[in-house]
Amino acid sequence: MSRMTYIAGNWKMNLLPDQGEVLVSELVGSLKNKKDLEVIVIPTTGLIPFAVDWTSNSSIQVGAQNCSDMLSGAYTGETSPGLLKILGCTYCLAGHSERRVLYGETNEFVGRKAQTLLTLNITPIVCVGESLEEREGNQHLDKISEQIRTTYDQIEKEKWGDLIFAYEPIWAIGTGKTATPEQADEIHLHIRREIENVAGKLVASSISILYGGSAKPSNAKELLSQENIDGLLVGGASLNAEDFGKMISAF
Ligand code: PGA
Repeated sequence: MSRMTYIAGNWKMNLLPDQGEVLVSELVGSLKNKKDLEVIVIPTTGLIPFAVDWTSNSSIQVGAQNCSDMLSGAYTGETSPGLLKILGCTYCLAGHSERRVLYGETNEFVGRKAQTLLTLNITPIVCVGESLEEREGNQHLDKISEQIRTTYDQIEKEKWGDLIFAYEPIWAIGTGKTATPEQADEIHLHIRREIENVAGKLVASSISILYGGSAKPSNAKELLSQENIDGLLVGGASLNAEDFGKMISAF
């Protein structure tokens, strides 16, 4: 894969079909003349077939928020990555902090999930980031390095360049607090260097690294103008067509 710009909207457990349909139809209008940009909507699992239908006449791609690390079997309540593929997902989040913190997903598990997705040619968007305590304790860089290294431990070498990373400081998610563009850019550079240490320069230079954590219309342009920020993973602001449309226009 080559490095490019992404604006992805993580709807989390929000929106019912009628609301999602209105949102997507409004978004389609924001996409004109945005050829070098990939826009992704990431609805809750049950909405995926609807979202694939709503986006079918546009360039908007559909991603999933989560899936199993296994292809099939006795895993009650899990979603098969093979099903995501058949439904039309081209991307899937792996290791969003809400999955790590609320559902105990470990670095190793996230890496296995990324590997399973890659076997199906679904691009994992692997989320990494630190808590406030870790940042205040100056442990944030080590934490992020460990998340990256353990992910790569689980992934076969030929696929090392086929992921996307998202830096999502946990203290900035849904809190209204955004990392400053400089703070974010510094961590993105650290992430790229860590990828380079593990997977080499070629892989590191081809990977897109998105920023997530209270990204909104008022900071999108500045975040996107940073050298090491390749796109945005947007939560709250992606639920509003006008706001998300403005963020698309900021590119
Ligand atoms: P937020 O969420 O934009 O609402 O902070 C981002 C995310 O969790 O991906």
